[in-house]
Amino acid sequence: MPKLVIGLRAYLVREKDKELDLQIKEARKYFPNADIVVTVCGNKYNSFTKRKANNIIYYSEKPLGLGKTWEIIVDYAKKKNADEVIVVDGDDQHFFSEIKKIYEQYKSQLVIPQREKRFIFSGDSELHGITLEDLENAFIRYKHKTRINDLQSGLFIIKDKRIINGLDFSNKNSFIGDFLFLDQVLDKKIDIGLPVIRIRPQTSTISSRSLVFSGIKAYEDYFGIKFKEIIKISMRDPNFYLPNGKLSVLTKIEELYLEHINSEKVKDMKGLILAGGYGTRLRPITYTVQKQLIPIANKPIIYYVIEDLVNSGINDIGIVIGQNKHQFIKIVGDGSKWNAKITYINQDNPKGLAHAVLISKEFLDGKDFVMYLGDNLLKENIHEFVKKFNNSNVDASILLTPVSDPEKFGIAKLDSNGNVIKLLEKPKNPPTNLAIVGVYTFRNSIFKAISSIKPSKRGELEITDAMQWLLDNKYKISSTLIKDYWKDTGNAEALLDANRMILDSRLNGYSNLGKVSDASTIKGRVKIGKNTIIYDNSIISGPVVIGDNCKIGPNAYIGPYTSIGDGVIVKETELENSIVLNNSYINSGKRIVDSIMGENSKVSSAKNNLPEGHKLIISDNSEVGL
Ligand code: DAU
Repeated sequence: MPKLVIGLRAYLVREKDKELDLQIKEARKYFPNADIVVTVCGNKYNSFTKRKANNIIYYSEKPLGLGKTWEIIVDYAKKKNADEVIVVDGDDQHFFSEIKKIYEQYKSQLVIPQREKRFIFSGDSELHGITLEDLENAFIRYKHKTRINDLQSGLFIIKDKRIINGLDFSNKNSFIGDFLFLDQVLDKKIDIGLPVIRIRPQTSTISSRSLVFSGIKAYEDYFGIKFKEIIKISMRDPNFYLPNGKLSVLTKIEELYLEHINSEKVKDMKGLILAGGYGTRLRPITYTVQKQLIPIANKPIIYYVIEDLVNSGINDIGIVIGQNKHQFIKIVGDGSKWNAKITYINQDNPKGLAHAVLISKEFLDGKDFVMYLGDNLLKENIHEFVKKFNNSNVDASILLTPVSDPEKFGIAKLDSNGNVIKLLEKPKNPPTNLAIVGVYTFRNSIFKAISSIKPSKRGELEITDAMQWLLDNKYKISSTLIKDYWKDTGNAEALLDANRMILDSRLNGYSNLGKVSDASTIKGRVKIGKNTIIYDNSIISGPVVIGDNCKIGPNAYIGPYTSIGDGVIVKETELENSIVLNNSYINSGKRIVDSIMGENSKVSSAKNNLPEGHKLIISDNSEVGL
C-alpha cells in the first residue's frame, strides 16, 4: 500500500479550530492509514488537534505564507519517504468523502480539483467579482501561456513519488503560495487532472487589499514582470487571463494598485550616487571599466543602486562621476530605463564624500536626499530605511553592520539606547566593530556641517566628520542595523562574494527565454536569456543566471552561484561559483571553480588536461590554453 501523507494547513482565527478538527476527523475516516500532519498559524491549536493528528509539523502565531507550508509538508514527506501527498487547506470546505472519490477515480500522477463554486474574495467591495487567485493566475498564464483553469483549489493530490522528490521550495518567497508549486509542475510539463469538486460553503476568508498588493510585489519579482504589464496584457485578452473576463474590474484594480504603490513610496526626496574616484584601479578582472559599472549577476553594480532608489520612490537622481563620463552615459544613460531622471555631476578630483555632496548642492536644491555609494550592494532594499527617515525628525540616518575589519570603515559608537554618539573614519583602534554602510539620508543641515569641517589626514572632506559635527551641535542621527552587505574591495574574491549575495537574494524561480534540450536538466533557481540554447547532456544547477545568445553544452555542467553574460559559449566544461563576462569561450574538458573570466576571453585545452577544480582569474580579451 502506498505511503500517503496528508498535509492539512490551517490559519486559525476565531472558531476555525473546529473546522480543522472536522477535517482531521474526516481525513482519518476516509484515509485510515494516512500520516495526517498539520501546519498551524494564528491561534494555538486545541487539544483535539493535538491528539488526533499524527504530527503538528509547524506552529507559529504569525501568518505562515502558503509557499512555506509547501516547503514544510514536502520536506516532511521526503523525509518519511512518502509515495503520495495530499495538501489541503485545513480550515477549509473540502469534504474528504469527495477527496477520496477523486483520489480513487483519477489515475493521473497529479490531480488539482477545481471547486464547483468559486468564492469571491470580497474584503474590498470595489474588487468584487475577482479573487486574489485570479490576479496570481494571470502571472502564471502569462509565463506558461496556458490557461490552467481557475486555480482556487486549496487541494492538491500528488500520486507520484518522483514529483514529490523533484519539488524545491528553498529560498522562495513564501508569499507566492500555491503558485510556487504550480510553476514547478508546469515547468516540468507534468499532466494535471482537473476534476470538479463539490465543496462546503466558505464561512470567512482572510484577505485584505493591502495584503494582496504586497503579495503582488513578490509575484513581480518572481515572474520578472510588473503587475502593470500583467494588467495591460490581461486587458487585451481578458477571457484568457481572467476566469470571468471582467475588464471593468481590472481597470479598478489598476487604479487601486497604483494608489497603494504611491502611498507606500517616500515623497519628495532626491538620490545622490557617488561614483567618482579614478576608476583606473587595477584589478585582475578588468581595469578598463569603472568599478561601479562592473556586472554582478549580469547587471552593472550601479543598476542595483539605481533600482534600489527608484523602488523606494526616488526618481530624481544625481550621479557624481570622475573621468569616465562616456562609460556612464553608455551604460546608464539618462535614466529613462527606470523612469527616472539622471543628472551627472562632475567631480574633477576625488576630494572626499563630503566634497562630492558639496558640489551637488545645486542639484539637491534644498531637498532631503539619500546618498548611496556606487560601490556598495545591499542584500535588502532600502525602502523601509528611507521611509523611516521620511517620517522622522532626525537630521541624518545611517545603516550599520558588524564587520571583522573595522579599521577599514567609518565606525559608529552607540549609547545603551542605540542612539549614535560618536562617528570615526577608519580609526586605528576602533572602539566598536559597527561599520557605516554606504547608504545615508540627509537634510539640508548637512551643508552647514560640511562647511564647518576641514580635510582629514588623507586630505579628503569626510562625510563621517560632517556627521560628527552634526552630533557635536545637537543634531540627531538615527541608525539601523543590517545583516548582509557588500562593498567593493577591488579584488576577485569580493566580486565572487557579491555574485553569491545577489544570486541568493535577488534571483527568484526559474525563467527561460531560450531553448533547453530535452536531454538536459535544469534544477533550482535558474534564469536563461533570449536565444540562448542549452544543448544535450548538460546540467544547470541554480542559482545560475545565463545571459542572451549563449550556447551551453553539449556536456556542460553549470553549478551553483555562476553568472554567465551574453554571447558566451561553454562546452565540455564544469563551471561552478564563477563569473563569465560577455562573449567568452570555454571549452576546457574539466572543472573550473571560483573563477572570473573577463569579456572576450578564451579558455581551451586538450581534453582532460585540466586539473580538478582549476581556479582562473582572466582579464578582458585574454586567451588561456590549458
Ligand atoms: O563603503 C562604506 C565606507 O565608505 C564607509 O564605511 C566610510 O565611512 C566611508 O568614508 C567610505 O569609505 P571608503 O574609503 O570605502 O570610500 P571610497 O573612497 O571607496 O568611496 C566610496 C564611493 O564614493 C565610491 O563609489 C567612489 C565615490 N567617491 C569617493 C570619493 C573619495 C566619489 O564619488 N568622490 C570622492 O571624492
